[in-house]
Amino acid sequence: MNEHVSIPAPANEAAHCPDSRPNTRKVFIKTYGCQMNVYDSTRMGDALAGEGYVTTEDMGEADLVLLNTCHIREKAAEKVYSALGRLRDMKKERAAEGREFMIGVAGCVAQAEGEEIIRRAPAVDVVIGPQTYHRLPDALKKARNGERVVDTEYAVEDKFEHLPATEKKVIRSRGVTSFLTVQEGCDKFCTFCVVPYTRGSEVSRPIGQIIDEAKRLVDAGVREITLLGQNVNAWASEDGKGNAIGLADLLYRLADVPGLARLRYTTSHPRDMDDRLINAHRDLRILMPYLHLPVQAGSDRILKAMNRRHTGAEYLALIERIRSARPDIAMSGDFIVGFPGETDQDFEDTLRMVEEVNYASAFSFKYSSRPGTPGADLPDHVAEEVKTERLERLQALLLKQQADFATSCVGKTIDLLLEKPGRMPGQVIGRSPWLQSVNVDAKTSQIGEIISVRIIGTGPNSLFAEPVESLIEV
Ligand code: SAH
Ligand code: SF4
Ligand code: F3S
Repeated sequence: MNEHVSIPAPANEAAHCPDSRPNTRKVFIKTYGCQMNVYDSTRMGDALAGEGYVTTEDMGEADLVLLNTCHIREKAAEKVYSALGRLRDMKKERAAEGREFMIGVAGCVAQAEGEEIIRRAPAVDVVIGPQTYHRLPDALKKARNGERVVDTEYAVEDKFEHLPATEKKVIRSRGVTSFLTVQEGCDKFCTFCVVPYTRGSEVSRPIGQIIDEAKRLVDAGVREITLLGQNVNAWASEDGKGNAIGLADLLYRLADVPGLARLRYTTSHPRDMDDRLINAHRDLRILMPYLHLPVQAGSDRILKAMNRRHTGAEYLALIERIRSARPDIAMSGDFIVGFPGETDQDFEDTLRMVEEVNYASAFSFKYSSRPGTPGADLPDHVAEEVKTERLERLQALLLKQQADFATSCVGKTIDLLLEKPGRMPGQVIGRSPWLQSVNVDAKTSQIGEIISVRIIGTGPNSLFAEPVESLIEV
């Protein structure tokens, strides 16, 4: 082993002369899964920045590769092991050169499989769960001393209290939109889902911590924040006087953060969509008219077997209430086809549900049996070809709805948040209030501004627009 690469520069030397540090380490973080993993990857980057690591987009120059993994479907979990096979070979090459190369597995596969990962992939140095990643620097130190670390306890301390705040220049480099986790875990126990096991029970971050983080983001130039939670609308806390407050209250408070222009939140469960939250969509212009509200299936029999705890009719009635509060709201959803016992008739009910709601966007999946979930033990698993055929039919319908929604936007004048340079010089990509990507002629110096544009056309995954007047700042 070439020892000098693994000894960090003394803190005072680093502070005075950062460029002279011979051994600034680089971490490459690969993120799988949902938006919360995207957020967690940035916060793991923060935890490692405190140890002198900088993040790199180039795996070839990394001293540490961290896989932030997803366990939701079998395929997602399998990807991790094939990536680990490739990393093992890289580690061998690096060892031959005498260079440090560490491998960490974080996220939901880490939580679900723990020790098993090290058994199957001995090249892994550290396995760390979603609730303990603030301890990543410690785990790496132990691993450098030859210990294989598996840290997947549910930490008693709050990881957010222990993570260093993201540096302003790092926030800026990440763009003008940001995720902010406000709630983690799930107590719903849908019978197909691993999340209650990988993320633990529902925990809400305190309001003060969230407002502080939002202010820091905005201060660094962020204009749009998406609040994240596995069940974000189950967020619950107390105000200063000991009164119970919910997600609606949090949104009203965030709406007052100076400089913040747009708010979104995801993912919601229909059971936790209360009247105050629906009214927030009516009252708050800062709250974008887009709601991801998964239903999973249209048949009451299947909804019951999934333990979703509402009927199809209740979901449709809920959407009607949301639409009367905010008529221009775009609905999005998730669907699973081929849950055990799903008949042709049940599937037709899903199609009918989709017809009735008319989604602006949606995600749909074939049921994947997950060990340890109640669904795995149910009888009548659906044949793979039947799942494939149902998924194709469902996706054709959802894609048509999405395309129709895009077409219905043509001719409209909308506010566009300019986010990043487009593919063509002179073009910038922005987001519509309904989360569509929109290409427009603008200067990259305008990124972060909200401009008024008219939609003039649609492409396969985006819209085209022209500016209509001089800038309107919000
Ligand atoms: N908390 C969110 C969903 C989190 S998982 C909610 O309650 O809606 C994201 C999506 O993955 C789910 O909405 C579901 O559609 C899908 N999913 C979860 N488990 C799955 C499984 N075992 N097989 C296929 N899709 C699954
Ligand atoms: Fe999974 Fe259901 Fe919880 Fe969503 S609500 S995370 S689908 S168990
Ligand atoms: Fe996957 Fe975990 Fe998110 S299982 S979907 S990364 S909560």
